[in-house]
Amino acid sequence: MQKMASRLGVGVLILAALLGSATAQAGYGYAAEYGKIAPSPAAAPEGAPTGSPGYGGYPADNAAAPAAAPPQGGAPAETPVPPPAPTLRFGFYRRSCPPAEYLVKHAVANAIRNNPGIGAGLIRMAFHDCFVQGCDASILLDPTPANPRPEKVSGPNFPSMRGFDVIDAAKAALEKACPGVVSCADVVQFAARDAAFFLSDSRVSYKLPAGRFDGRVSLETDALNFLPPPSFNLSELVDSFKVKGLDIDDLVVLSGSHSVGRSHCSSFSDRVSTPPSDMDPGLATVLKGQCPANPNFTNDPTVAQDVITPNRLDSQYYKNVLRHKVLFKSDAALLTSRQTAREVANNAAVRGKWEHKFARAMVKMSLVEIKDATNGEIRNNCRVVN
Ligand code: HEM
Ligand SMILES: *[C@@H]1O[C@H](CO)[C@@H](O)[C@H](O)[C@H]1NC(C)=O
Ligand SMILES: *[C@@H]1O[C@H](CO)[C@@H](O)[C@H](O)[C@H]1NC(C)=O
Repeated sequence: MQKMASRLGVGVLILAALLGSATAQAGYGYAAEYGKIAPSPAAAPEGAPTGSPGYGGYPADNAAAPAAAPPQGGAPAETPVPPPAPTLRFGFYRRSCPPAEYLVKHAVANAIRNNPGIGAGLIRMAFHDCFVQGCDASILLDPTPANPRPEKVSGPNFPSMRGFDVIDAAKAALEKACPGVVSCADVVQFAARDAAFFLSDSRVSYKLPAGRFDGRVSLETDALNFLPPPSFNLSELVDSFKVKGLDIDDLVVLSGSHSVGRSHCSSFSDRVSTPPSDMDPGLATVLKGQCPANPNFTNDPTVAQDVITPNRLDSQYYKNVLRHKVLFKSDAALLTSRQTAREVANNAAVRGKWEHKFARAMVKMSLVEIKDATNGEIRNNCRVVN
């Protein structure tokens, strides 16, 4: 019995077919300027979020948190996942650090118990890590004299990104249990997975191949080049996903994470001011009441992304899209093609289906531009290169 189980385990380990997205090239860069994303001559995406970068400005990590404890127990149906990239394996730390995944989950559970919004931050962190230099924990690197402008200080990440403390807590526990073994890049992806599990009441549940290495390069300009701003239209969004090996279905499915968390007013103020956007007038009125007319760095409150179920990772987002009750142009853009509108309607209508699609897409995203021992390391401290 045990023998069979271990043979099955080995089978999973050997399952190492190549997934296209994992090897997608990064080098299709748009030319960047500070606070602005300009098109490269070769790239279709065009236009730039001029003016405010629109990612929010106020370092309000301790926003009021409902006291919901993360759900425990239950027997979720695990979503079968696409095969990992060549160097990654399911259960990667089974021998080298058996409690690894548990320790991360524990840190995430603790954080979410205090503030579910941190879970939203962790899901977003996985995205912002993977789209810039691949899923290599480059987002975690602090500024240094040698590298004063890393990804972390870029408009898309600062001051809106949250959850760094959870990664630190998980890494500290991991270093205590098995020093030098578990990469920060894997911690980021595990943490997002666990946050999705808790915030979805265990409906989003997936195994994650691991073995990522941590990068040594982190540049603000890369973040500006590769992270799509909320002002993007559909073709710009599709292109920004395409350069990372993700397709239009992934775009629609992953956008569903805007069913949790918050946004700073500056990220959507263009849509609530005049002239009116296609936003539901009722929502626009509510937002006008919550936001200053001209949010700036020192006056930039946050609002819930999904007013119906703000702390629940569910398909409510798609109902909101259909009703024009979403914050960003990039959300509303999903209705601007027949294909994406159909998928939105589908995700809104068919209960339980989106959760499985989301799990698969998160795994696919976690394989973008993976580093190995030749171009990465296992960081001792997630905030600094070794
Ligand atoms: C499709 C292009 C996307 C755009 C333009 C976009 C843009 C944004 C913006 C502007 C915010 C608000 C930040 C703030 O002002 O505080 C936000 C929040 C968020 N985004 Fe996205 N996003 C996109 C895709 C994604 C993806 C792929 C994921 C995850 C898989 C994701 C997860 C989140 C989450 C969970 C939040 C809430 C974060 C928090 O509460 O701290 N987004 N997004
Ligand atoms: C999206 O915006 C770009 C740049 O402004 C523009 O060239 C393109 O035609 C737009 N696409 C759609 C579908 O509106
Ligand atoms: C930000 O906006 C507030 C009012 O909304 C204003 O009082 C303040 O001076 C502004 N700060 C900056 C730095 O522009």
